[in-house]
Amino acid sequence: MPPGVALVVLGASGDLARRKLYPAIGSLAAREQLPSHFALVGVARTEFDDDDFRKSVVEAVRAAHPDAAETLARHEFACRYVPGNFDDPQTFARLKKVLEELDSSAGIGARRVFYLATIPQLFETAICGLRDAGLGTADEPADGFNRVVIEKPFGHDRASAVELNELLHTGFAEHRVFRIDHYLGKETVQNILALRFANSIFEPIWNRRYVDHVQITIAEPLGVEHRGSFYEGAGALRDIVQNHGMQVLALTAMEAPASFAADSIRDEKVKVLRSVEPLASEELGTAVVRGQYTAGTIDAEPVVGYRDEEGVAPDSETETYIALRLDVDNWRWAGVPFYLRAGKRLAKRVTEVVLQFKAVPHLALPTSAVESIEPNTMVLRIQPDEGIRLEFGAKVPGSTWSVRTVGLDFAFRAGFAEAAPEAYERLLLDVMIGDTTLFIREDEVDAAWQIVQPVLDGIAEGLVPVRRHAAGTWGPPAADAIVGSENDRWRNT
Ligand code: BG6
Repeated sequence: MPPGVALVVLGASGDLARRKLYPAIGSLAAREQLPSHFALVGVARTEFDDDDFRKSVVEAVRAAHPDAAETLARHEFACRYVPGNFDDPQTFARLKKVLEELDSSAGIGARRVFYLATIPQLFETAICGLRDAGLGTADEPADGFNRVVIEKPFGHDRASAVELNELLHTGFAEHRVFRIDHYLGKETVQNILALRFANSIFEPIWNRRYVDHVQITIAEPLGVEHRGSFYEGAGALRDIVQNHGMQVLALTAMEAPASFAADSIRDEKVKVLRSVEPLASEELGTAVVRGQYTAGTIDAEPVVGYRDEEGVAPDSETETYIALRLDVDNWRWAGVPFYLRAGKRLAKRVTEVVLQFKAVPHLALPTSAVESIEPNTMVLRIQPDEGIRLEFGAKVPGSTWSVRTVGLDFAFRAGFAEAAPEAYERLLLDVMIGDTTLFIREDEVDAAWQIVQPVLDGIAEGLVPVRRHAAGTWGPPAADAIVGSENDRWRNT
């Protein structure tokens, strides 16, 4: 960890900062993982002074982790606030002055992290402001460092992501750009790498010879909450599939990296994403199903339909559910479909990867047993109830031959006494250290957009209509047809 770091939060009074970033800073302080000289600098339109800002940060920490708030309140970190608009060069001139002053007074030594925690529409303006003030330079600074953290969504489509990358590079070299996908901060997502590459028993069967297909589910009972107007322009495809879905798929399907160096891992992720065959327009009708929730029931409570949510058009055609079949066309996975689905207001919260294995080549068991046999599966449970479950058939005790599915379960909670750090805690720490392993590289973003873009184009051409389904169900029944009628897990996760 460098001896001093200034974390500049652009969008300091926003939702992300208050709900995720400040609590993460509080937890890092409680774990004594903040650099010995730490400065938090907020930039936003709200009129605050340094003290108000400090209090609002401690309050935000208290709401999430009451104990950490006390530690943070005692921590002698420097706290500054720069009010202003991002389209006003004066805002950045003032920010620069504050940072230069902190370099010596707070022992920061020009080591700066700029966190773009704003709405995506302000990314460009903020990057230009930093660059034009000389806070982001294309060349390596003579002393210290400047890094930029950028939240998803990274671009609105492939072309806008390319443009955003080009703009970023006018102020920050690629190795100083930290594109966040908070799924990579989740322990259970990182554990996919440990499971696959720290064990010898899984990798031999992790391929087309043994795996029939893979299902990735990211289901939420939550609706769009107060983000209706953002979500209208995004939909489940951009909001979840392009980033979280692609990351989980990449970690599940990638080859073993040459080393655990950031670029080694990221090289393999890019390689596998590039192996995903982009869907042709004539395939979209059968390989993609889009849905939108109507009024229904979640946890026995009635909820409104998407079109009645605040900020949503009454005739909206934005999908709140999407299921798609992708093929990873490479040596390991040729012929193994990857089914991916994501949705809001679904029956329950579950994020998981299911590997369904092939049937045995010959069944030398009585007919009564054969009929009861279900496929072997391995379930990587990302959240909640984090863990891993292996399902296989066992003989039901008794004089007749019958086989029933049983499971071997590993639960993180039971297996480890250590509490998992929050995703943002881990990611912020890595940015300060300068470790890019858990961040998305430029070519990776592009590879993910290359998969998603044909679907976006098909939607624009009206090839993938939105189907309604009641909130609290598992999405439109048409999505079941993508996977095949024999698959129960897809319906009853
Ligand atoms: C965000 C999406 O990236 O991920 C949200 O924008 C979604 O719409 C959230 O609710 C899900 O994250 P998690 O960590 O709750 O699975």
